[in-house]
Parts: sequence; C-alpha cells; structure tokens
Amino acid sequence: MFGRRKAAIGLDVGTHAIKMVEVTVSGSSAAITNAGYREVPGEEARAEALRQLVLDKGLRGTDVVSSVAGRSVIVRYVNLRKMDASELQNAIRFEADKYIPFSIDEVVLDCQPVEGAESVGPDEMKVLLVAVKRRLIEDHVTLLRSCGVNPVIIDVDGFALGNAHLLATDMKGRQGVSALVDIGASKTNINVMENDRSLFTREVYVGGADFSAEISRRLAVNPFEVEQVKGDPGDRQEEVREAVQGVADDLGNEIRLSLDFFENEFDRAVDAVILSGGGSRLAGLAQSLEGNFNKPTEVCDPMSAFSLRLSQGGAQTFQEKAPQMIVAIGLAARLGRN
Ligand SMILES: Nc1ncnc2c1ncn2[C@@H]1O[C@H](COP(=O)(O)OP(=O)(O)OP(=O)(O)O)[C@@H](O)[C@H]1O
Ligand SMILES: [Mg+2]
Repeated sequence: MFGRRKAAIGLDVGTHAIKMVEVTVSGSSAAITNAGYREVPGEEARAEALRQLVLDKGLRGTDVVSSVAGRSVIVRYVNLRKMDASELQNAIRFEADKYIPFSIDEVVLDCQPVEGAESVGPDEMKVLLVAVKRRLIEDHVTLLRSCGVNPVIIDVDGFALGNAHLLATDMKGRQGVSALVDIGASKTNINVMENDRSLFTREVYVGGADFSAEISRRLAVNPFEVEQVKGDPGDRQEEVREAVQGVADDLGNEIRLSLDFFENEFDRAVDAVILSGGGSRLAGLAQSLEGNFNKPTEVCDPMSAFSLRLSQGGAQTFQEKAPQMIVAIGLAARLGRN
C-alpha cells in the first residue's frame, strides 16, 4: 500500500551458495535491510548450511520467497488462438502436454499472456507457459521447512532475475531492451526485458562450475584453491584466462544464440547485456563476453539502485557479493513491491 513499509525475505538456495536478502520498500525507495551468504560445500551439506544461515540471521519461523531452477523447470513461449483468461486456464493443460517432456500429472503449471510479441497472427496470442515438476517444488518446500523457515512463494530463478531488475529500475529507470544474464555455478539464466516487460527467458547449462573444472585441471589446484584463485588470481591471471577461454567461448556462444533468437522472434535489438551471479565476477569474463556479443556488457551494480541499511559486517558481505545476490533480491521483490 502506498507509503507503507513492507519487508520481505528472498532465499536463493543455489548449488554453490545460499543467498539471503531482506528488502524493505517504503514509498518509492527500496533498502537492503538484512543479508546473508553461506557456501554449500556439497549436495549433502546443503540442509546443514541452510540451517546455519537461518540460525545466524535469526530467520526461524519467518516467511520467505524462494526458487527452483534446472531441467525440471520448463519455460516455453507458445502461440495459441486468442482466448480470455478463464478459457486459457482450462486450455493450458491440453496445450502444455504438447510442449513439455513430462507427464502433465507430474507438474505444476502456470501461464500468462505475453504482450507485444511480433510473430503472432491476428487471431493468435503468445503465452508464457511454465511447468515445474511437482516433486522438485515439494522437495524444496520440505528442505526450507525442515530448516526452520516458512516458504510462501516458490518462484523460478529466471523470473526472479527479471523482478530484481524491475525493482531496481523502479528506483533508477532504465529504458530499452536489456538482456539480464545470471551466471551461477551450474547454469546461466537469461531474461530479456523491454522496459518493464520480460519477453524471453532461457536457462543454459554452462556456469561457474565449468570454469572451476578447467582451472582445477589446467592449474593443478584442488577445489578449495580454485575458489581462491578465481577470487584473486594474483600473478596467475594469464594462466586462468587461458584455462577458461574455451568455456567462456561456449558460454558466450550459447548466450548469443539466445539473443539472436530473441532478436529474430521479436524483431528488435538487444541494447545492453547486464551480467550477475557469482560466475560474472571472474576477472576478464565480462570483456570476453562483450567481445562475443558485440553489445555493451556490464556486471550489474545493485548498490546503485538500493540503499543499504545493514550492520557493518553485513554491509561488507553484501558489497563483496553484490552481483551474486540478485536472484535473492528478485525473490524478495515478489512480496516487497505491493
Ligand atoms: N570472485 C569470484 N570470481 C570468480 N568466480 C566467482 C567469484 N565468486 C564466486 N564465483 C563463482 O560463482 C559461482 C557461484 O555463483 P552463484 O552463487 O551465483 O551460484 P549459485 O546460485 O549457487 O549456482 P546456481 O544458480 O547454478 O544454482 C561459483 O562457480 C563460484 O566459483
Ligand atoms: Mg543461482
């Protein structure tokens, strides 16, 4: 409601790290009022890491917005004949069956008309179709509850990325077509936004872990050392650059294919690429990708859109990791905006 303060917590349980952000919106400004970060040393250690974070940050019993991602999340843009919202809700189960590789009984479905798509006939509309394996959502909810928090919304990483951008642009204002690209550990999410509308999303399975594997192999360092070398390569900068070049090219080509697809499908150009996620922090990667896309490419800077109201320690963690916190910000934005 106008003028009211509203706080919400986004909890991004990534494959490499858990990120938590509390966003407080009051009037037309948004502030980061709590933040936490904890690495996940391995699949089996995820629950323990989350439990620790919940404990450290005093989150027991609080409502959170969290997300799922990966191959059990299917996002498709499909052309359907024009129909109203209630008709669409009924039709979508039948339509979805054609587009998703799982049984319709195994998934939770959601859909939404996409405004402004070019390649639709006069009697057609474009619809964003989201299908998530029910099991994935149930497991995630169980994990969150067993760690002491109360999930109120389960979103999808790619959409959270768009919501973070919307919250930031509410505060700052950005026009044109931007491709948001979040480079995580296991995958990279792409969300192309025109002003305040998300027009296209895709997930590609290249990410920071692929860079780590190459660095580990070529520089003969263990996984712990890899993280140190990535964060601060010192005099091994050139070795790191050479080690990751192949993966950087693969990732760049995958993203470029998506941008090309978008530009053809929607008949408009992508003006800028905004990178986020821990993977985007690798020294030299943004420049390498910029060379590949031939579009202005920058690593996002949440600090320019949000004020920080954190303890000194919290502010330092947040600042260091800022681009990595974007999905968590976007999750909190789901509740923080209204
Ligand atoms: N300073 C840095 N320089 C380079 N790489 C970094 C840096 N900090 C973190 N990373 C890398 O970023 C990745 C983790 O980023 P992030 O936290 O966004 O992933 P995640 O959300 O856990 O993964 P996913 O989204 O795939 O589930 C790891 O591969 C890590 O090595
Ligand atoms: Mg992530």
